Amino acid sequence: MMKTMNDSKLPPSRVAKHIDALPNSGIRDFFELVMTMDDVISLGVGEPDFVTPWGIREATIYSLEKGHTSYTSNLGLLSLRQAVCRYVKENYSVSYDPVQECIITVGVSEALDLILRALLEPGDEVVYHEPCYVSYPACIQMAQAIPVPVTTKQENNFSLVADELRQKVTPKTKVVLLNFPNNPTGAVLTCDQKSEIAKIAVDNDLIVITDEIYSELTYEDQCKSIAAFPGMKNRTVFLHGFSKAYAMTGYRIGYACGPKDLIDAMMKIHQYSMLCASIMGQEAALEALQHGKNDRELMKSEYLMRRNLIVKRFNSLNLTCVNPQGAFYVYPNISSTGLDSDFFAKSLLQEKNVAVVPGTAFGNHGKNYIRCSYAVSIDDIELAMTRISEFISEV
Ligand SMILES: Cc1ncc(COP(=O)(O)O)c(C=O)c1O
Repeated sequence: MMKTMNDSKLPPSRVAKHIDALPNSGIRDFFELVMTMDDVISLGVGEPDFVTPWGIREATIYSLEKGHTSYTSNLGLLSLRQAVCRYVKENYSVSYDPVQECIITVGVSEALDLILRALLEPGDEVVYHEPCYVSYPACIQMAQAIPVPVTTKQENNFSLVADELRQKVTPKTKVVLLNFPNNPTGAVLTCDQKSEIAKIAVDNDLIVITDEIYSELTYEDQCKSIAAFPGMKNRTVFLHGFSKAYAMTGYRIGYACGPKDLIDAMMKIHQYSMLCASIMGQEAALEALQHGKNDRELMKSEYLMRRNLIVKRFNSLNLTCVNPQGAFYVYPNISSTGLDSDFFAKSLLQEKNVAVVPGTAFGNHGKNYIRCSYAVSIDDIELAMTRISEFISEV
């Protein structure tokens, strides 16, 4: 008789231990469930609800019409790198050489993976803040290093307190990883906070990776990048991209600017694993930098209106909500309902067809929080909030 898998014990895993040890993304399981349901209002997705502005789409079509379907330089089109470096200088007050200090990548996702793999050896520690983007701890572990989270708190508007960061620094710490405006809280760092964090990096000889993917979506005053503080340019890698500010998630274009030795190291991995980002995506990104400012600002003003509405509605339900200063997420505290975030999110989905992401997806301290994206229409926000209000009154 043939032996089935059930007859014998499972064979030992063939997968590398550090990959086997990675948890599945909490968000993925949840959204598998959402996909099976009809009439769901999703406040769960972390991407703009706008279609890429027409001028950018037209540039993509034109690129194809011209027959631009080849590889580019591994580093990316020089014209795009030049435009990126000009843009970074004008908006973040730090100058980079487009030939030696800039690389175009397949989204910020690739740039993050490249720099972590280029820098880290087994046992190195990376300090970062939690809650954070779901990929951070996983990418650190994939580089065989140790993730060391610092919990950011509601009473500090989810900003990173420099003293709490300092306490996590050990002789094994090599990197500090930052993302402000933050996914999932919308928190930002003030200039003073950036200056204090920069001082810790300089004093302890640390490298800072700053993921600035939401930086155009900053609603109050924007401070220059941490890369522009004294002593920081040579120890900072600045990551940015086009997904959020220009509604270009599907184009998969990002970039990194940083010291030549680190860009060279990223380039070594990129040239063997990715070759280059797609040429039509790069040409579209160039158009975004050259002519996309108005569309970008229009989308931002729409997000701002939605933010004001959703924050007001959550606070009126006693789900206290810090007024986020950036990105397009709110992170309300649901402890007044007595439910934990996984149960809250699953029950809300099943009973009221509204999808939100449980705070536990963004780190261990998220059980009293949910993340809601306001990159959805005002009508959907109104309807979702009415349903959430009903849900709470029935708990
Ligand atoms: C903080 C953060 N970094 C990076 C990414 C990935 O960006 P990209 O589309 O450029 O790969 C996201 C996407 O949600 C994000 O929230």
